[in-house]
Amino acid sequence: MHPTADQVLPGTAPSDYENYLKTDALLALQPGPETWTHRDELLFTVVHQSAELWLKLAVAEVEQAITQLDRGKRLAATRSLDRVIECIDIITPPLHMLERMTPWDYQHVRTALGHGSGFDSPGFLRLRTSLPNLVAAVRRQLESDGLTLRDLYLAVEQNEEMFAIVERLVEIDEGLMKWRALHTKVIERTIGGTVEGTQGTPVEIVRNLRDKSIMDELWTVRAELTELADQTLR
Ligand code: HEM
Repeated sequence: MHPTADQVLPGTAPSDYENYLKTDALLALQPGPETWTHRDELLFTVVHQSAELWLKLAVAEVEQAITQLDRGKRLAATRSLDRVIECIDIITPPLHMLERMTPWDYQHVRTALGHGSGFDSPGFLRLRTSLPNLVAAVRRQLESDGLTLRDLYLAVEQNEEMFAIVERLVEIDEGLMKWRALHTKVIERTIGGTVEGTQGTPVEIVRNLRDKSIMDELWTVRAELTELADQTLR
């Protein structure tokens, strides 16, 4: 193939699209028939590698949100947090693709994975490290406004921007819980719920992580409001 006349970027690929996006390198990253143990390694790799890319974007947006929050730029932080929410939402439905493998075919794929385990996913590890920093940045903003979460939820009209930020944390938290709930079902459907993973972790441990929260008060504040309503409204 020859470069087209309208190609303006440097590179050896036949189009600017391919040069800019490095599609040659990207599409060479999945096992092909010459190396795979089972053809479903392609399905398995595409789902995992694409999740890693979306998680990379999620972490970059969490870091940007922290920077913006510390500058007091709350609306800008909100825009980044919307992207984090989208990233987590995007990686959840593709988990169903893994259910399109038969359990026995996956056992063949699994032989190629060595001790590879989702616990070592760089995307999830970085997200798990960055989210507590995001929660700390949100807490600093609440403190600078002299607000507890309870105060905030009782006076949303006076604190719309802060409320928007905190509700985004709830969405991120809920999004991760939904991802983990589906991931657990995928595991149970594929390898069963009573076995161990590639690193010897019982599936039970993954099941117990499902509702782990980045900030427990996001949820307990709801119960506090119900108690308050019981005392004052009913
Ligand atoms: C056939 C599909 C899948 C199976 C059977 C599976 C199985 C498992 C198992 C058994 C564990 C427990 C740790 C271990 O021993 O490996 C685990 C953990 C984990 N897996 Fe998967 N997994 C699948 C797909 C995915 C996908 C697509 C991702 C996305 C990157 C992922 C990310 C993780 C993460 C982050 C953990 C750590 C536990 C957590 O944070 O909830 N897994 N997986």
